[in-house]
Amino acid sequence: MARISYDAQTAAAFKAVREVPRDGLSEWREAVRRHLRPARGMTLVDIGAGTGAFTAAFSDWFEVSVIAVEPSAAMRARIPRTRAVQVLEGDASALPLADASADAAWLSLVIHHIPDLSDAAREIRRVLRPGAPVLIRQGFPDRYEPAGDLKLDGIELVRWFPETARAIETFPSVRDTCEAFAAAGFRQDALVQVRETYPATLAEFLGQIDAFRHADTTMRDLTEAEFLRGRERLRRAVEEAEDAATPETRSNWLDLLVLR
Ligand SMILES: C[S@@+](CC[C@H](N)C(=O)[O-])C[C@H]1O[C@@H](n2cnc3c(N)ncnc32)[C@H](O)[C@@H]1O
Repeated sequence: MARISYDAQTAAAFKAVREVPRDGLSEWREAVRRHLRPARGMTLVDIGAGTGAFTAAFSDWFEVSVIAVEPSAAMRARIPRTRAVQVLEGDASALPLADASADAAWLSLVIHHIPDLSDAAREIRRVLRPGAPVLIRQGFPDRYEPAGDLKLDGIELVRWFPETARAIETFPSVRDTCEAFAAAGFRQDALVQVRETYPATLAEFLGQIDAFRHADTTMRDLTEAEFLRGRERLRRAVEEAEDAATPETRSNWLDLLVLR
C-alpha cells in the first residue's frame, strides 16, 4: 500500500503541479547520464513511474527503451505512450519483467511507498542484468542536519512548510536502503546531490499550493494550522519577491543514490 491513494483526483493534481518541467531537469539529465552510461538498445525500467515524466525524459534524452511499471491505474493512464515506451501494471515487489531483462532501474520518490524494501530489492535484482545500476531519486532523512551534510530546506516544500520534515523523517534512510539492497547483492556506487529548477514564479507556486497539498505525501501529513502558517509564509515571500528587482530561481535539491 502506498502512503497516499493515487486515485484520479491525485493523479490529475500530480500531473498539474508535481511534475518538474523538462527545462528544470538539466542537472538530473547529466547526473543520470554519468551513471547510466546510456547506449542504443538499452532497456530501463521506471518503477513507480507515476505520470511518466521521467519515462518520457529518458526515452527522449537517451534514446533507450523504457518500461514504465506503475500500480495505480489513474497514474498509469497519464503516461505518454510512444514506440519506445511500454506501460505495465505492477509494483516494485512484483515486476512484470523476465529475469535479467533490463539494463537499469529508476525509482523516483517511490521507495517510501514500498511496503517491504528488501523484497523489492530482491525483485529488482531478478530483473536486472549483472552490473546494471539502480538509480534512486529521493530525499533521505539521514542526509540532512544534524546528522548529515545537507540542509533540509534544500527541499522547497520544507522551506515554506517546515513540518513536512516530519514525514521525511519516516522515509527509508540511505543506510536502510543500502542494507536492503546489499542483502540482494547490490553495493553503493554513488551518492550525489542534484538540483532541479522550476520556471514557475513563487506567485504561481502559491496559486498551486492547494493542489500540492493533495498531490504530495509530506503535505498530506500537515495539520490545517501548519498548512495555513506555511501558506502565509509563502504569501509574504511572494510580496517580498515582487518588490525585488530580480526574482530568485526556484530550486529543489534531492539525492541520486546509485547501487550496482
Ligand atoms: C510520488 S509518486 C512518483 C512518481 C514518479 N516516479 C515521479 O517521480 O514523477 C510515487 C509513485 O509510486 C507509486 N507506488 C506506490 N507504491 C508502489 C510500489 N509498491 N511499487 C512501485 N510503485 C509504487 C505510486 O502509485 C506513485 O505513482
